[in-house]
Amino acid sequence: MVKDRKLIIAGNWKMNKTAAEALDLVNGIKRELANVKEVDIVVCPPFTALAGVSEALLNSNIRLGAQNMSENGPGAFTGEIAAPMLKEFSVRYVILGHSERRQFQKEPDDLIARKAAAAHASALKPIVCVGETLAEREANITEKIVGSQVRGSLAGLSRELVEETVIAYEPVWAIGTGKTASAQQAQDVHAFIRGVLSEMFDDATARRVRIQYGGSVKPSNARELMSLPDVDGALVGGAALEARSFADIIRNSI
Ligand code: PGA
Repeated sequence: MVKDRKLIIAGNWKMNKTAAEALDLVNGIKRELANVKEVDIVVCPPFTALAGVSEALLNSNIRLGAQNMSENGPGAFTGEIAAPMLKEFSVRYVILGHSERRQFQKEPDDLIARKAAAAHASALKPIVCVGETLAEREANITEKIVGSQVRGSLAGLSRELVEETVIAYEPVWAIGTGKTASAQQAQDVHAFIRGVLSEMFDDATARRVRIQYGGSVKPSNARELMSLPDVDGALVGGAALEARSFADIIRNSI
């Protein structure tokens, strides 16, 4: 099926890979995917590997992303990284509000919204993550939870900026567990999110926003997930740590 939104497939390396290991991985990914133009490909290494990976990606078809950033500009915020520091390394995307940060760093929606605004102010495209826990799905409150995460995390964005934002729907129970949402479960939530965007903005804007699926995406399930009408890409964790499996996910999605 031909969609009018270009697929975007991003590897979230999480807290994995030293700078040296990251170079090996990105060089492998470059070799595997040198000729792919049909998909926007993004790799998101840890901060300490950004400089090296950035240099390795000069003149390539693969874009660089970070995994988090501060909502503040440069200043007295020990341990934080500001958007202009990412820009220096040609970072184009930044993952915000990943469920691991929502859980372990207690990041709330309004903080994620401030980070998204700060990212846009530096022309970085945020990848804003949302998703319900297993307990929330079993309590039949998936739409309530995901709806309020979308509204809260995108609060204050203009139509123009939301079109430059990627949303990643990642059911928490599917992350790193080997359990993937079924095609129907993924499509249902993606369509729901697009409906929320229509209400917040308008139909035309909602149709232009790319919504990735994340949670145990692998070469064997990528084709089915990526062919769903409202799924516009993937945010890949474990399977993005090996060049061949990340490349196979992308090849299987075209
Ligand atoms: P996973 O992680 O592919 O290992 O499930 C996805 C993510 O957390 O972004």
